[in-house]
Amino acid sequence: MEAEKQSRGVFSGKLGYVLAAAGSAVGLGNIWRFPYLAAEYGGGIFLLTYLILALTFGYTLMVSETALGRMTGKSPVGAFRKLKNTRLSLAGGWINAIIPMLILPYYSVIGGWVAKYLFEYMAGHVAETASSEYFTAFISNASSAEGWFLVFAFLTMLVIALGVENGVEKVSRIMMPGLVILAVVMAIYSMTRPGAVEGIKYFLIPDLSHFSWMTVVAALGQMFYSLSIAMGILITYGSYMKKDVNIETSMHHVIFFDSGIAILSGLMIIPAVFAFSPGDAGALSQGPSLMFVTMPKIFHSMGGGRYVAIIFFVMVLFAALTSSISLAETCASTFQDELHWSRKKSTIMVGLIVLVLGTFSSLGFSTLSNVRLLGMQILDFFDFLTNSLMMPISSFAICIFVVYVVGVKKIAEEVKLSSAFRFEGMYKVFIKYIAPFFVMVILLSSIANVLGIIHI
Ligand code: PFF
Repeated sequence: MEAEKQSRGVFSGKLGYVLAAAGSAVGLGNIWRFPYLAAEYGGGIFLLTYLILALTFGYTLMVSETALGRMTGKSPVGAFRKLKNTRLSLAGGWINAIIPMLILPYYSVIGGWVAKYLFEYMAGHVAETASSEYFTAFISNASSAEGWFLVFAFLTMLVIALGVENGVEKVSRIMMPGLVILAVVMAIYSMTRPGAVEGIKYFLIPDLSHFSWMTVVAALGQMFYSLSIAMGILITYGSYMKKDVNIETSMHHVIFFDSGIAILSGLMIIPAVFAFSPGDAGALSQGPSLMFVTMPKIFHSMGGGRYVAIIFFVMVLFAALTSSISLAETCASTFQDELHWSRKKSTIMVGLIVLVLGTFSSLGFSTLSNVRLLGMQILDFFDFLTNSLMMPISSFAICIFVVYVVGVKKIAEEVKLSSAFRFEGMYKVFIKYIAPFFVMVILLSSIANVLGIIHI
């Protein structure tokens, strides 16, 4: 650990990098968040908008962050400062560093829900979990929800405290392919239920009449979240990347893998909503509870559902843990690098932040259910604050920083150290013009929406 503190770790090569970045990217965002947003915001048109954004916008920001990290060899605060010590760079660095500290607590609350469902299936409670009221009853039971949140948070912090990221990387090699296979099997099962065809059509065929500005806002927020953009992760990972690893293809592989898992999750959950709640328009807009309400119904209806459910939730739990570990790791390394705290002190601090903010989010469905922040429940508020407000600001800072402080040319040179820069033209147009403009419009519309000035 001491040695690790002094000399920066390096990923073994492209595979090591892609696995680590994919491990961070693939998580609850893909399996839990993407399907409920797609269900709510227009199905096929949401999917199309998402994919276009990921391949243009997402790609541009990912390349920028990774190149910044590799160029400076630092995590966000240091990377911004190393390049030029201005107020903007400090603010830009810190906002990147604070976002994961706000996401991790509520991420752990949802991770706790996953752990709870895994436990219930192990205990054989297949029929109980399939009832529509089960989930609401669970999250509104303060001690139970809090207890499971603590279990998940403890698991994450344990890994961080032990510093066994290498072990996680090894397990990823087996679990990630396992997740893909299981998702394919479950998607096929779900798509072949009677009545599911309507759901497949809804999810895959874009229908312009379902398009609204909110489709773009939600897709963009989801893109940041799912690809772990605009929160310092990729800057940190870039700093561990060797100079000969091809940045462009690495980014494409991560986007491909991450979107693939999101699409499979959509195919698993959305057709099931149509099959199990035919004609119920409200079922599509259940929001965060969708996975916990729909999947149990599938498990209940299939032979051996209990065992499939156990495997499914083990995989989801694992995907959630690799992501939460990457979140906690960035938070801890910010304290270590910037405040020069020891690993132990940093870990304790991260644990405390998770405990306090996570408890608020968790109790927001029970003891604190009357509390509304900007009209939202506490967990939704943190989700909104980070995804719709802070991430656009943070990515705006990255654009400004790349264009006016570092220079697009420097980024291009960094990319070209390892390969040709095939999408350089697109990259330049996006980073200079489209991305900053668009991000600002998104930010302003999120603010206007929450203040009730416009309804989107
Ligand atoms: N990308 C992860 C997911 O989709 O679940 C969540 C996440 C992990 C966000 C790590 C941010 C992060 F730094």
